[in-house]
Amino acid sequence: MKLALKIWRQSNASSKGKMVDYTVDNIEPDMSFLEMLDILNDELIVKGEDAVAFDHDCREGICGMCSLFINGEAHGPDRLVTTCQLHMRKFKDGDTIYIEPFRAKAFPVIKDLVVDRSAFDRIQQSGGFISVNTSGNTIDANTIPIPKHDADKAFDAATCIGCGACVATCKNSSAMLFVSAKVSQFSLLPQGKVEAKERVLNMVNQMDAEGFGNCTNTGACEVECPKGISLENIARMNREYLKSSII
Ligand code: SF4
Ligand code: FES
Repeated sequence: MKLALKIWRQSNASSKGKMVDYTVDNIEPDMSFLEMLDILNDELIVKGEDAVAFDHDCREGICGMCSLFINGEAHGPDRLVTTCQLHMRKFKDGDTIYIEPFRAKAFPVIKDLVVDRSAFDRIQQSGGFISVNTSGNTIDANTIPIPKHDADKAFDAATCIGCGACVATCKNSSAMLFVSAKVSQFSLLPQGKVEAKERVLNMVNQMDAEGFGNCTNTGACEVECPKGISLENIARMNREYLKSSII
């Protein structure tokens, strides 16, 4: 395949960015989207030009680092996959592909397609954990009976990889799907109930302090989430927040 690429180039956080045209040739349908960008970067480096900066780590859909907005969709046109798992067979010869960074006030661009998502780290640090005595007295988690339904829901919530596609997709740049997944994975389990009140209050307060917008129930986040995180987590977080605010 021969493809026309329009890629957002921006030298640093304070410079003005713009879309720049490139062409790549001999792209195989079985290549991943990131491998296609690797080929472009190899060519740019040989020509002595600046390679396009983009985030990636595992390239297996696990780490949540890859973060491209492709033809107007977070992680591109496929469903339930990250950018690193998007294959070029989803495009056809002669296509023009627009590639932009995840855009949100709380995710400032660092360079080209790389954005700073450390706001998510700070939300996580504000309450996304359980305090466990690791002095040798720790009770094996498997000795605590947990209803299968709750275990399944907690596991589903725990599959959030913190990629930020929900924020990039939301017209309000809301982080509610991410934060609600992190709150839910603990609130559904007995181990998470001890610190439940502080957790939800601290995480929501930190989310607001980072400048994310509010949820207006459009559901775009759920559609674009590569891990299928459900909106029901947002409803659960709202209930937890209300309960914790008044008790
Ligand atoms: S909820 Fe989905 S889209 Fe949002 S950070 Fe988690 S995995 Fe990514
Ligand atoms: S590079 Fe790790 S999820 Fe895409």
